[in-house]
Amino acid sequence: MKSLIVTGGANGLGRSIAQSASDAGYRVGIIDANIDALEDAASSIQNTVPLFASVTSSDEITSALDKFEQVPDIWVNNAGIVRFGPLLELSIDDWRAVVDVNLTGTFICSTIVAQAMAHRGSGSIVNITSINGIAAGTNSGAYGATKSAISLLTQQMSLEWGELGLRVNALAPGLIDGGMSEPIYSDPQFRKLRTEKVPIGRLGTEDDIAQAVLFLGSESASYITGHELVVDGGIINSIIANLPRPSSVDSVGLGEERL
Ligand SMILES: NC(=O)c1ccc[n+]([C@@H]2O[C@H](COP(=O)([O-])OP(=O)(O)OC[C@H]3O[C@@H](n4cnc5c(N)ncnc54)[C@H](O)[C@@H]3O)[C@@H](O)[C@H]2O)c1
Repeated sequence: MKSLIVTGGANGLGRSIAQSASDAGYRVGIIDANIDALEDAASSIQNTVPLFASVTSSDEITSALDKFEQVPDIWVNNAGIVRFGPLLELSIDDWRAVVDVNLTGTFICSTIVAQAMAHRGSGSIVNITSINGIAAGTNSGAYGATKSAISLLTQQMSLEWGELGLRVNALAPGLIDGGMSEPIYSDPQFRKLRTEKVPIGRLGTEDDIAQAVLFLGSESASYITGHELVVDGGIINSIIANLPRPSSVDSVGLGEERL
């Protein structure tokens, strides 16, 4: 039976990834540091194994993998946190917490599971990044820096581990209606303003991300590695199109001969 482990799988995007993987016939391991949410997720989703661990602890992640009793076909590094604030006001503790969970957690989990996957000779890792790691955003400097670093780490891992039979990719969600963004989109005004900016005209769902993760992790993507798949309805490409622009300029050049 195919199997998948997702970190931070008790809530938000991770929980949706666990649900979709279970629906698709995977045996699923859910790693999370929130015991109550973990037990709730594992009891609601079929064919799941709750694995209580923090991605910041090598010992806990090693024990979690042992407890799963199977080297997963797909490992999803999804656990992530954000601490908002302008850089000049961000405490060193908040900076370190974000780097520790997002970046170091991805390194710890990936290196542990990669050794087990390499022993088998196959495996796939998907790292959840963010469009905030592609372009800087408001008051999210620590978060964006970790996501950008995970993107480069993904390339590095794909380079080093390809000959071991492993593929490593990243997936950058855009404006997602759920998870840690729930406080933004529960405000009707900001929900509308943001939705209008997305080229395809809607916010992303947790399921949009889950389905893309399953594609990238599975054999359907067997020749894709070191790639960052942006799942954002086109928002990251729309920065220039969203700048104010006088309509008069669009008539300039009309009627002139152009080669
Ligand atoms: N929701 C969005 O709009 C959005 C957009 C872009 C990227 N992302 C990324 O998607 C991923 C999931 O985010 P989400 O929105 O579902 O967040 P969330 O806060 O809803 O869920 C995160 C989960 O990670 C767990 N977690 C936190 N620290 C952990 C640790 N040290 N060890 C193990 N588990 C830990 C939490 O308990 C929680 O269950 C994150 O990497 C986030 O950066 C989210």
